[in-house]
Amino acid sequence: MKIIVTKDYEKMSLKAFEVLKGVVKSKPYAVLGLATGTTPLGLYHNMIEDHKTHGTSYAHIRAVNLDEYQGLPKDHPQSYAYFMRENLFKHLDIEESNTFIENGMAQNEAEECARYNKLLSELPRDIQLLGLGSNGHIAFNEPNTPFGNETHVVDLTENTIKDNARLFGDILEVPRKAFTMGIKQIMQAKQILILASGANKADAVYQTVRGRVTEAVPASVLQLHPNCIMIADKEAASKL
Ligand code: F6R
Repeated sequence: MKIIVTKDYEKMSLKAFEVLKGVVKSKPYAVLGLATGTTPLGLYHNMIEDHKTHGTSYAHIRAVNLDEYQGLPKDHPQSYAYFMRENLFKHLDIEESNTFIENGMAQNEAEECARYNKLLSELPRDIQLLGLGSNGHIAFNEPNTPFGNETHVVDLTENTIKDNARLFGDILEVPRKAFTMGIKQIMQAKQILILASGANKADAVYQTVRGRVTEAVPASVLQLHPNCIMIADKEAASKL
């Protein structure tokens, strides 16, 4: 794993943007694996600004997202579909029909997972962007998820529910379950870019980079990926 430590969140977002723009420029039909959460917002902001000022085009780009809360429709303000539309897609020239995410409202979990697995097999990711959970999760693959899992439904841990409650009015409104891409599929991306910012990620960054590769720390699997870059700001990297 290549590790880049930056002075702050802005520099982390800028470095991440350089990597992502490199992929988009060299391959206009690239498939981007994207993430939600607070961490990639700076990167998304840079992508939008660059699109506006330099015209970098996403007209043929396909975007596949990691995860979605179960029970939230795609126009619910806390759904990840809504997040992606508001924070990125609607500001770019990407075709809505080229953006993919699990359907949080799917009645049949197994069918929805199978549909997404098929889609992922048809859209191999050129780059997979990841945030890092403070408990070491990637996507919603919580500690002790088997590395071989494909798309599945997870019971979110109390830790993750608490972390994500800041985005909801009340902790009781945070969904308890989510659909998530599996670790096996994350690892299939040609390149992985994982971002971490802030002191609350420092333990997880340390375990991811220096710890043993173990299902107890899902992100530690990234040590086994042949082309993975971690960009962490100083605070997140403080325990390395
Ligand atoms: C989001 C996702 C999560 C987040 C992680 C970090 O699609 O898959 O794994 O990347 O929980 O979240 P933030 O960036 O909000 O700290």
